Amino acid sequence: MSTFDDYVGTFDNESGYLNWAAFGPLSPSVREEIFADADLLGSGRPSSLSLVWERVGQAQELVAELLGAEPADVTLQPSSTQGLMHALYGTTGAVIASTAEFPSVSLTLERASAASHRALTPRWITPDDGRVTPDVVAEALDDEVTALAVSLVDFRTGFRADLAALRELIGPDRLLIVDAVQAFGVVDVDYTAADVVVGHGYKWLRAGRGSAFAWFSSRARERIAPVLSGISGTAGLSVDELLAPTPSAQAFTVSPPDTLAAGRLAIGVRDVRDAGVAAIEARIAEHVDTIVEIADRHGIAVTSPRERGSRAGIVVLSPEEPARLAAALANAGIVVTARGSSVRIAAHAGTDAATLQQLDEELGAFGNETFTSS
Ligand SMILES: Cc1ncc(COP(=O)(O)O)c(C=O)c1O
Repeated sequence: MSTFDDYVGTFDNESGYLNWAAFGPLSPSVREEIFADADLLGSGRPSSLSLVWERVGQAQELVAELLGAEPADVTLQPSSTQGLMHALYGTTGAVIASTAEFPSVSLTLERASAASHRALTPRWITPDDGRVTPDVVAEALDDEVTALAVSLVDFRTGFRADLAALRELIGPDRLLIVDAVQAFGVVDVDYTAADVVVGHGYKWLRAGRGSAFAWFSSRARERIAPVLSGISGTAGLSVDELLAPTPSAQAFTVSPPDTLAAGRLAIGVRDVRDAGVAAIEARIAEHVDTIVEIADRHGIAVTSPRERGSRAGIVVLSPEEPARLAAALANAGIVVTARGSSVRIAAHAGTDAATLQQLDEELGAFGNETFTSS
């Protein structure tokens, strides 16, 4: 069996789970290894503690490997929002972002702007279809713009931004700050087009909360002030002297990382690295094709992108009666995210045929009911 097949075989969550864009049930390897790490921490022995501390370096190395970056430039964070805080609170000038971004981007940008007394100003864009394309960014671009903050894969529309094209548009002198929460580990792109990339382990990496990271390129480290730098952002711990932030990416940290979370992140990233991100992306793309085909066949509108290059693992259905569809799926034990007028479906590489079959049956029953009652 190939490593990819091994990986697919590790999905032991209940059938019907199609909510990977919200939360990824923990993988067996994360669950097993975390117990071992917890036992080591339970001993109190310095050698055991330092063994678990090695997880920090492992996580940095593995995240860096997937990003094509240097491990020292990867910081471990309690959440991706905190990673974005480090990036945005230290930035000045006009920062372009869509008003429809996940609040980790939009709210953080607004708060950072207020804290800076408007030395940082949001340059909001509101694309009609919520898609941050080079064309809509170009319209907002002027000399005051210092950065663009964007989700690589949008949590709501499922749209995958074109990082290379956005970089080409904004040029080398502006920062590209990327929220890769809905992409990291399942989308094979060149992250080095970005300057800051944040992500976390609790969705597609199946590693649980608290396991986030933020990567800062050399350009980011030169231009972003580490205003939220804390005790782990200095070269050592000093009581009498107030040390300056280190000139490294670690300046963008507050306090030493949770080693259990670092372990979970390391294991989650190791598993996708071993399986191959490209292979995972290809399998998810097949599932997305199937889900779109099922929705089309049952006459339910799909509003997420259809072209493979513009999407990742998120399919958005916009049925005429979203609440009724959400209730029908929930009653059938199919787990999705229902929000307003849409139902978000997110399959992973290990989503089984039975789950897709179940979805087919439920959408079929829903479509027919709509037909007979109209
Ligand atoms: C695109 C995006 N960014 C950020 C977050 C929040 O991440 P965290 O909980 O690590 O701050 C989410 C959570 O759903 C998300 O979808």
